[in-house]
Amino acid sequence: MNPVNITETQILNALRTVPDPDLGKDLVTLNMIKNIKICEGNVAFVVELTTPACPMKAKIEADCRAAVGAIEGVTHIKIELTANVVARRPQGGKVIPKVKHVIAVASGKGGVGKSTVTANLAIALAQAGAKVGILDADVYGPTIPMLLGLEDETLEQIAERQADGNVIPKIAPAERHGVSCVSVGFLVEPGQPLVMRGPMLGKFVNQLIGDVAWGELDYLLVDMPPGTGDTTISLVDAIPLSGAVIVMTPQDVAASIAVKSLKAFQKLNVPILGIIENMAYFIAPDTGNTYYIFGRGGGMEAAEGLQVPFLGRIPLEIATREASDCGEPVLVSDPESIQAKTFHEVAGKLAQQISIQSRKFRPLNVM
Ligand SMILES: Nc1ncnc2c1ncn2[C@@H]1O[C@H](COP(=O)(O)OP(=O)(O)O)[C@@H](O)[C@H]1O
Ligand SMILES: [Mg+2]
Repeated sequence: MNPVNITETQILNALRTVPDPDLGKDLVTLNMIKNIKICEGNVAFVVELTTPACPMKAKIEADCRAAVGAIEGVTHIKIELTANVVARRPQGGKVIPKVKHVIAVASGKGGVGKSTVTANLAIALAQAGAKVGILDADVYGPTIPMLLGLEDETLEQIAERQADGNVIPKIAPAERHGVSCVSVGFLVEPGQPLVMRGPMLGKFVNQLIGDVAWGELDYLLVDMPPGTGDTTISLVDAIPLSGAVIVMTPQDVAASIAVKSLKAFQKLNVPILGIIENMAYFIAPDTGNTYYIFGRGGGMEAAEGLQVPFLGRIPLEIATREASDCGEPVLVSDPESIQAKTFHEVAGKLAQQISIQSRKFRPLNVM
């Protein structure tokens, strides 16, 4: 029996039947298939995803395998999954051109777990293989240094060469758990409030972003001050945000405040990437019973009502609080825990929404 001669066109035609479930087009049209190699019945190719944290990885791979496997003569298929995070256009703006996505993490009020969620999501994205940074812009309560175990950190100055060849002094971010980090907390004495108000605060945060040598980042998460203050407005003014994530607890009151902050972003033309419900429920370690301490389902209802994505529920867990307090977020201290898996799921959904949003061109926000 003569071996069948398989061609690259056959492979591409087969893969044209495989859609990216999120982006709604096929993998070939989306230019996600690379480096096809054929040797008799052996076929190898690379699928370049739009984020390493893609939650559809397994499905896309299985669909590719099925499509190519149906070609006559194919006996063995090797698929390599890589990722190239697609930048928002324009990428990072003029201020931080090498940062592909800036994402604001916001809440209506303090204490809902915005910083805890930011830290864990950042680590989850980094663990998935993305280049991630956190800017702790919560001028009223910068807790990211504590959460990441960076309290004693002092920032160093380095010289950064610009695209035009000029060398300018910049701040080198601290690095922990695979995440680059700069906090307004690094710039003030612990326990000292920042004596700044209104527009000055916003300017300060913007300057801080631009003064940091972030290097290349796929995602920069900004831990925003709670509410809808000046920092939000001036951040949106200075940098093209890929979107905002709203963290809330299921409590009705918290939800209505959170909705206000969500609407403020929408008004500024910032896409809402989704709502995360934190402290959604508590599973008693002794009995296994579930308790809805702050009420039930507020985040999901809010997301449905406002027609924005719901990214998931994070339970209230003693381990999460303990891990945060000692600078080892639960993703690092107990990566196999349910809590860690939940954060990975939410991070995947967030990355998915960023990919979806960055396919749609949005004009720069004009203030
Ligand atoms: N899912 C959770 N389970 C247990 N404790 C949590 C959880 N999320 C946040 N916390 C705790 O709640 C407190 C407030 O969280 P924090 O992230 O500082 O909130 P915010 O940044 O919104 O003010 C912290 O003590 C934190 O450890
Ligand atoms: Mg905080």
